[in-house]
Amino acid sequence: MVKIVIENLAQKELLEVDPSKSLLEVVQDHFIDWMHACGGKGRCTTCKMIVVEGLSQLSRLTSAEIRYRDLGQLAENERMACQARVLGSCRIRIPEESKMPHMEYTF
Ligand code: FES
Repeated sequence: MVKIVIENLAQKELLEVDPSKSLLEVVQDHFIDWMHACGGKGRCTTCKMIVVEGLSQLSRLTSAEIRYRDLGQLAENERMACQARVLGSCRIRIPEESKMPHMEYTF
């Protein structure tokens, strides 16, 4: 069973993940607010996430992610939630710059 754990959202677990959906779509299906300034079009990086474990369990980098990685705006352990699909279990964190003011984050 594929499981996503969001560490700094109180270890929130998302189960039964649909591999055809982006991580952004998956979290929205679970009613979790997630920054996505460009509407999930791969043009902003505000949906960025840190992948703590399971980087290889995500779909391949998209051209949008490669562009931002080349610009130095997407680190090796980061993915854009609107671009990455989750194919196997992983642990992620929301980076400081992508936190939403009304949400409560944990360590
Ligand atoms: S929402 Fe803009 S790049 Fe993902």
